[in-house]
Amino acid sequence: MNDQLRLRPVAEDDLAVIERLLGDPEASGEHSWRGWFDPRWLRRRWEETSLLTREGGTLMVVRSAEPLGLVNWRRQGTTLTSYCWNIGIGMLPKVRGLGYGTEAQRLLVDYLFAHTQVNRIQAITEITNTAEQWALSKAGFTREGVLRGYGFRDGEWRDAVMYSVLREDGKPEDVPVLRPSHREHAGPRRDG
Ligand SMILES: CC(C)(COP(=O)(O)OP(=O)(O)OC[C@H]1O[C@@H](n2cnc3c(N)ncnc32)[C@H](O)[C@@H]1OP(=O)(O)O)[C@@H](O)C(=O)NCCC(=O)NCCS
Repeated sequence: MNDQLRLRPVAEDDLAVIERLLGDPEASGEHSWRGWFDPRWLRRRWEETSLLTREGGTLMVVRSAEPLGLVNWRRQGTTLTSYCWNIGIGMLPKVRGLGYGTEAQRLLVDYLFAHTQVNRIQAITEITNTAEQWALSKAGFTREGVLRGYGFRDGEWRDAVMYSVLREDGKPEDVPVLRPSHREHAGPRRDG
């Protein structure tokens, strides 16, 4: 059995996993839970589109056929004639902190640059979500700056941080990585 991490389309059995990751406060985690939602909405969308459209998509993150989480992306207009992808991720609680989130986001970047023509992939995460900021840095994303009062969650407007990777950027191994807490003092990770 191939135990490498890989991405694959969502199958019917995965819907329960996605429901957990999006709808269960424990499983979605402090930064991702936005209140209850109707799970029939998810099933309807899956039946209609397999969660893969020209506007965005969702893929399962799996290892040895076991679902560990999901990645998704959606189209974000940048000018009248161009757009980029905005990506998101959720890993099941039992597999967090093991490097899978980093690898899954690397795989998603490779997939999107290989199969779509965008020049930029971005990710926005809450400023207190250090695990995701660290995972994005390790996956080759550059921290661009703070978005003030960006997202409403649990009764408050919260600052977020914008990260991006461009088609021309090097592979993550070529790029020095700083932990988020260090980066606040060290300035931008890449300056040229
Ligand atoms: C954010 C998330 C996708 C990162 O994936 P992951 O597999 O846990 O990340 P990785 O193990 O690749 O890297 C995370 C790094 O942050 C560190 N970390 C710090 N706090 C952590 C925490 N609470 N949970 C997990 N990792 C944490 C890890 O140790 C690791 O650093 P290391 O490589 O030096 O050990 C995952 O934790 C998750 O699904 N969280 C809940 C949902 C979420 O916040 N999604 C993003 C919304 S924008």
